[in-house]
Amino acid sequence: MDLRLQLAFLVLASLLACTTPTVTHESHERSTRSTYIVRVRPPPNFSTDMSSINLEIWYRSFVPPLLGTSRLCTPFIHTYREAILGFAVNLTKDEAVYVRKRDGVLKVYEDYLIPLSIGMGDGSIIGLLDTGIDVSHASFNDEGMKPPPTKWRGSCNFGDAKCNNKLIGGRALLGGHYPPEDSVGHGTRTASTAAGRSVEGASVLGNGNGTATGMAPHAHLAMYQVCNEWGCYASDIIAGMDAAIADGVDILSISLGGKSQPFDKDVIAIGAFSAMKKGIFVSCSAGNSGPLSSTVENEAPWVLTVGASTIDRQMEAIVKLGDGRSFVGESAYQPSNLDSLPLVHQLGSGNAEGKVVACDLDGSSSSQLQIGRNVQNAGGAGMIALGKEESGQNTFAAAHILPASYVNSIDAAAIRQYIKNSDKPTASIVFNGTLLGTTPAPVVAYFSSRGPSTQTPGILKPDIIGPGVNVIAAWPFKVGPRYEDGKNMAFNSISGTSMSTPHLSGIAAIIKSEHPDWSPAAIKSAIMTTAYVLDEKKKPILDEKLIPAGHFSIGAGHVNPSRAINPGLTYDIDEKQYIAYLCGLGYRDSQVEIITHHKGACGEGRKITEAELNYPSIAVKASAGKLVVNRTVTNVGDANSSYTVEIEMPKEVTTSVSPSKLEFTKANEKKTFTVSLTWNANATKHAEGSFKWVSDKHTVRSAIVIF
Ligand SMILES: *[C@@H]1O[C@H](CO)[C@@H](O)[C@H](O)[C@H]1NC(C)=O
Ligand SMILES: *[C@@H]1O[C@H](CO)[C@@H](O)[C@H](O)[C@H]1NC(C)=O
Ligand SMILES: *[C@@H]1O[C@H](CO)[C@@H](O)[C@H](O)[C@H]1NC(C)=O
Ligand SMILES: *[C@@H]1O[C@H](CO)[C@@H](O)[C@H](O)[C@H]1NC(C)=O
Ligand SMILES: *[C@@H]1O[C@H](CO)[C@@H](O)[C@H](O)[C@H]1NC(C)=O
Ligand SMILES: *[C@@H]1O[C@H](CO)[C@@H](O)[C@H](O)[C@H]1NC(C)=O
Ligand SMILES: *[C@@H]1O[C@H](CO)[C@@H](O)[C@H](O)[C@H]1NC(C)=O
Repeated sequence: MDLRLQLAFLVLASLLACTTPTVTHESHERSTRSTYIVRVRPPPNFSTDMSSINLEIWYRSFVPPLLGTSRLCTPFIHTYREAILGFAVNLTKDEAVYVRKRDGVLKVYEDYLIPLSIGMGDGSIIGLLDTGIDVSHASFNDEGMKPPPTKWRGSCNFGDAKCNNKLIGGRALLGGHYPPEDSVGHGTRTASTAAGRSVEGASVLGNGNGTATGMAPHAHLAMYQVCNEWGCYASDIIAGMDAAIADGVDILSISLGGKSQPFDKDVIAIGAFSAMKKGIFVSCSAGNSGPLSSTVENEAPWVLTVGASTIDRQMEAIVKLGDGRSFVGESAYQPSNLDSLPLVHQLGSGNAEGKVVACDLDGSSSSQLQIGRNVQNAGGAGMIALGKEESGQNTFAAAHILPASYVNSIDAAAIRQYIKNSDKPTASIVFNGTLLGTTPAPVVAYFSSRGPSTQTPGILKPDIIGPGVNVIAAWPFKVGPRYEDGKNMAFNSISGTSMSTPHLSGIAAIIKSEHPDWSPAAIKSAIMTTAYVLDEKKKPILDEKLIPAGHFSIGAGHVNPSRAINPGLTYDIDEKQYIAYLCGLGYRDSQVEIITHHKGACGEGRKITEAELNYPSIAVKASAGKLVVNRTVTNVGDANSSYTVEIEMPKEVTTSVSPSKLEFTKANEKKTFTVSLTWNANATKHAEGSFKWVSDKHTVRSAIVIF
């Protein structure tokens, strides 16, 4: 053996011996070492000044001699001085018995894992612009809630209804004629999803029974009632945002939006800009106009635009046809099974008495609940809701008043075919309860609006997806045909980007309460760069057709709350940069003033392209052929940390990030790097991928879309 190699081998061998000293003649089981925490009593003549004592030497006197022999290798994983006196060390069971018996040993504990507790949003205030709230619902009980923080300046202007430490305030801004309660249900469900307290035994007619909890159960809520069942007037929305900013909310949750409009005509974009200036984080629904592309709403880069995905739970209502085939549909109302009955297609003028009626949802503007009521009024015994073509393989559970099942569009086609081809079609609906852990999940909901953005195509929108299908949330009314549910305990199963948005608002509230000094852009960056893009089977997240969903469907990916709290790095953006971006986008001074309240901003100030905005993702037109752009990250993780770039792009795009390594030595230190992308504009029409900054603790991912 070469001498140097031999030496290296010896050093290696002694290093190994340090960590695992040989234990001879023992069974494997008994020789396995695991970690123990050993607490010892103070030494004789102990004084509080421990600095004079060489702890390591003293602590060695408690462990078996073999562990402490070499001066070079310490047997200890940790030595403690301040919190406790003692140390952590790996021991076999026998060694632990030995240590326990030593004089001066107070206690020997086996190490255990404490789960990462993600915050609950303590002290954060989430304001919602919505339809009001059912204050009496169990989800808004304030037992154990702290009073609102002192910065809260809001009032409780809800007529007779009383606020509490959960619902700390809000205002009815619909001209004052409306009851403070929620006559629609929309506001009650969004508020409970964002910050409802834990309510045990929550279910929709027995389905999905469990504990209902908002994302940030300790956050406070403020409701600004600006919508009724017909919608929300721009004037009321502005009044709501005005009040919320003045009252001192931390987060604004906006589950509403109309068609895409230039930012200077979009009251939500304008109000959200003022909110952002005050450090208020704004999340908005991406809209329910998918799966067509370019349908995304609320696209301003200073708001978080939230799309919707399914969750891994199904309320199974299985449709069994006379020919023996069966299809798994969904319903939130599960009465006793419906026996095989004649099956008819559509609700026509014919006699539906005692039949199962298969209804097309295609072209119908009515909800499946309303269609179910019509079927029952016509004497129907049950209903199969035939999912429309564009809804793909999504299914939606509703609290029907008759036995019903919503089947996906592929099963719907098979059922239509069966009815057409069979002389005496029959069907039964068998309820199979609530299944958890169903796959694939998450899947993008068909209705979730897609990018690219109309107003700002060079910013990737939507930003993120979160749970928005069959979400169980508080509801102000009893649901289904039964009446035994207490009103204040009513829950409903609801779908829409208006349900995914409050999930993200709650998560933002948790981040805000952990990091009160973070800007809205930093919170947004934390949420986006930690999102996941692989589903529960480690395959790319799929869309409603069960094909891989692109970044124009999922944005940065699916929100990952526990990682979002500790992202490692953030991409920050300040007011000035947004203004430079608006100027670069082609807004005139007068329009920029409408949005930002800054006069003559573009004349005197800088202009930057959309790509130059320090956004946590990148979208660029394929016709450009190349993009060279700088980004700046802020170190919000450990002061000393080191990140290496990892690029995942198709070969047709030449991608580099320079420098490829970022070394931080201070908290909040900023580093700038350059991303270069080049491709053949003649050949490449669409390409997607990412670059990631990876340290031993964090992965900070930025999605890239060339389109
Ligand atoms: C100590 O034991 C733990 C198991 O409890 C093991 O994971 C770890 O690698 C060991 N450490 C050393 C330094 O031997
Ligand atoms: C402790 O302190 C006393 C008085 O200062 C001294 O007499 C004694 O020897 C000390 N004991 C030890 C173990 O150091
Ligand atoms: C929900 O579950 C709880 C306990 O697990 C049970 O006591 C309760 O009756 C259930 N409720 C319904 C509606 O099934
Ligand atoms: C019905 O539910 C059971 C578990 O409760 C499950 O194993 C089974 O696959 C379900 N049936 C169908 C057709 O999904
Ligand atoms: C990127 O940053 C580098 C170094 O700070 C600078 O020299 C360069 O001009 C910047 N490039 C762009 C496209 O802004
Ligand atoms: C970071 O590293 C520097 C130099 O290596 C060192 O001086 C400093 O104490 C370290 N800071 C922390 C918090 O570990
Ligand atoms: C792209 O097409 C144009 C016109 O056909 C041609 O002049 C150019 O060389 C092509 N570029 C590349 C990179 O192939």
